[in-house]
Amino acid sequence: MNPSPPDLETLWALPLPELIARADEVRRRRVGDGVWLRGLLEFTNRCTQGCAYCGIRGGNGRAVRYSLTEDQIEATVRRGWDRGFRTFVLQGGEDPDWTTDRLCRLAERLRIILGDQGALTLSCGIKSREDYRRLAEAGANRYLLRFETSDPELFSRLKPGQTLARRLEALQDLRDGGFEVGSGFLVGLPGETEETRRENLRLCASLKLHMVGIGPFLPHPDTPLAGAQPGSMEDTVRLVALLRLLLPEANIPATTAAGSRDAGGREAMLAAGANVLMPNLTPPGAREHYTLYPGKVALVRDGAEDLEELLAHLHSLGRKGLLERGDSLAFLRDQ
Ligand code: 5AD
Repeated sequence: MNPSPPDLETLWALPLPELIARADEVRRRRVGDGVWLRGLLEFTNRCTQGCAYCGIRGGNGRAVRYSLTEDQIEATVRRGWDRGFRTFVLQGGEDPDWTTDRLCRLAERLRIILGDQGALTLSCGIKSREDYRRLAEAGANRYLLRFETSDPELFSRLKPGQTLARRLEALQDLRDGGFEVGSGFLVGLPGETEETRRENLRLCASLKLHMVGIGPFLPHPDTPLAGAQPGSMEDTVRLVALLRLLLPEANIPATTAAGSRDAGGREAMLAAGANVLMPNLTPPGAREHYTLYPGKVALVRDGAEDLEELLAHLHSLGRKGLLERGDSLAFLRDQ
């Protein structure tokens, strides 16, 4: 029997240490001590969108642009596979050179490596319902598309030409297409209020997300938000703990933005309910140009020893790094 879902208003009022303790307990009971490791591949930083917070926004003429070739992506996935990774997250900007046809051919090629032991996650923005359906058919299993903020006005202000409604429609299309679906939001965007944050949580809960990624907003010097304050780590930890309580069986990453905000940021998220880490497998030469925000930290450099180090680090936190595909329990329950 699952306990009845906790009431957000009651939880919101709890002191942070108590909230963290509760979230950690629920995390342990519902998803265990494992930390799923996902290999992240940032395959293109070209982007047609103009999101005010993002360092790879189309309007940033200072960004050095790249797009990996199919061969480079395949070789990186193969290398990751040989090191033990079983989930690969292909993330990129909204790059018109990466048509759905091309992404489908890539997914089919990667599926040969992945078989049914591996999972392919895509994170490359808004596409039509039909495009998503085709991507799923070609072998993509999961899709990440953060709604970024639940405030429709703030959304359209920060994402010119885009609407929250369209984004939510895309999330529904992904679910209908059979994807394991992840979304989430930025913490501390300029213009957001405490009510926005509560609404961000309510939206995650009402979308019944299988995966939820959040991280502090970090101002990038070459964006219109260069002078803004970064999101706070304390707020991020509080929100991750609340997410674990609201969505006990979701997969929740300790995100790179948190680790870049504060040394120990990812560990703080792991202690407050998170159960996923996404080591970056993007080849050197490309990864330093995937600068969504400044000061991006790496989790694993290049080579198997670093993975050993990460596993040992997780062990020292009382956790266990796991490489298997680790489908979200929330997703499996939906099937
Ligand atoms: N600070 C923190 N996170 C950011 N993202 C984009 N720009 C920034 C920033 N300046 C996040 C967005 C996006 C994810 C891939 O990266 O939430 O969905």
